[in-house]
This record gives sequence, structure tokens and C-alpha cells, in this order.
Amino acid sequence: MITGNSPIGIFDSGIGGLTVFRAVSRILPGEDIIYLGDTARVPYGTRSSETIARYSFECTDFLIKKGVKILVVACNTVSAISLAGIRERVSVPVIGVIEPGARAALAATKNGRIGVVGTEATIRSSAYVKAIKALDEGVDIFGLACPLFVPLAEEGWTDGEVARLVAERYLSSLREMEIDTIVLGCTHYPLLKKVIAEVMSGVVIIDSAVETAKTLKIVLDEGPLLSTRGNAGMHKFFVTDSAEKFRAIGSRFLGEDMKDSEKVKIPALL
Ligand code: DGL
Repeated sequence: MITGNSPIGIFDSGIGGLTVFRAVSRILPGEDIIYLGDTARVPYGTRSSETIARYSFECTDFLIKKGVKILVVACNTVSAISLAGIRERVSVPVIGVIEPGARAALAATKNGRIGVVGTEATIRSSAYVKAIKALDEGVDIFGLACPLFVPLAEEGWTDGEVARLVAERYLSSLREMEIDTIVLGCTHYPLLKKVIAEVMSGVVIIDSAVETAKTLKIVLDEGPLLSTRGNAGMHKFFVTDSAEKFRAIGSRFLGEDMKDSEKVKIPALL
């Protein structure tokens, strides 16, 4: 039976959702969290909408079977393509990352010119344009796909010469648009925040992780579904490919030893 003491489920195609996991574990330290990274099939963002939906449904079913009380889709690509389909599929609340990111970007911009970087699928969907325009028609939004950022993050190449060159190459066109705010519309991209900030100096960087965690807290509170146990929550990590690599890069990023990570096969991969 699902209660307030059931775990929170978070998933992404890979390591990127750890940016959301980190924000959630800081804002809600008493909650048990189960994280799933579909590392065997990352990246999602270069695939068709049908494939992205199918993969996301399989991740959803895996976490629902674990008895999660709420689902956080810590992936912009899935949030853009199949959030509605996931909501139809499950009876627990489902939170995506696009709405919170859109709100944060609007709160930050002063000149009304916002850049959005994300995967090909996210940019193609115009999900950010729709979400931001729904809140304020008057802003200008400039979308740009930066697909190579995902493998760089998965590989742990988050700073240094290669990451910097890739960031320069992608972002130079956005610099000319006189944006004052840039949304990292992919949960992998905050891992490259340092190089992105160097290339986009003077521009406010929005990473939806903290906003998403705040939204999660509000929804749990309203539930009421907040944990009542009062001790530190337990964290468990599942991946669909090598747990070692995920653990090494993830532990470095989180500054926490991810000893509780294991490799799983979700049914479609069997
Ligand atoms: N981290 C995901 C996102 O926020 C997906 C990246 C990918 O798998 O392409 O879009």
C-alpha cells in the first residue's frame, strides 16, 4: 500500500537526473528515494517520439512496481514528449521538469530574451516555448539543440578542453541573440555548468532541478504524502547498464558514495 513513507521515484535516461536527485535529497532529506537511470539506452534525445515514449513507459512501470508514491520525470526529453502518457498510465502524481524551469526562467529574465538549450527532441517539441509563452506571451525564446553535451556528461568529461570547445561551438550563436537568461533544458547539462557559464558569461543560468524539487515538496505536502519517519531517507540507485561507471561518475558529482547502486534489467531489455 502506498503511504507517505513510500519512496519517491525519479528517473532519467542516465546520469543527468542526478542533478534533480541532488536537489530533492537536499530539500527533502527525510525521504526515501529510488533513482533509475536507463544507461543502456541513453541518449533519448536523438530518438523518435515513439521510442522515447516506449522507453519512458518501461522506466515508469519499473518504478511503480517498486511502490513509489510519486514519480519525478527528471528528464526534459521525456517531460516534453510523454508526460501526458505517463500521467494516464499511473495513479500516483507525476512531476516533470519543464514547467518549473519555465517559471524560473521568467522570474530571472530582465530583457525578455531567453535562450533554451536541450536535446534535439526537446527543442523540436517546442515544449519550453509553449510553457514559457503560456505564462508570458511577450518574451522572445531562442532554442538550440546541443546533443553532444549528453555523452560528454555520461563520460564524465564535464570540464577541460573538449567540453569547452563543444560549448563554444554550440553556444556562439546564442551569444549573438542578446539573451540575458539561458535555461539548461536537459538534466545532463548542469554537469557542464562551469564551461557553459564561462562561455555565456553575464547570462543567468537556469537549472530546473531546484525548482522541480520545490514543486515536489509542495505536491507531497498537499497529498498529504510527506514522510513521517523523521530520520534520514534511504537512497537507492538502479541503472540498466554498468553500475560501476555510473557509480564512479555519479559519486564524484554528488559528493556521496553511491554504494547502493545496482544494475537491473527492465523487462523490455531482457
Ligand atoms: N537528461 C535528459 C534530458 O533532460 C535526456 C538526455 C538524453 O538522453 O538525450 O533531456
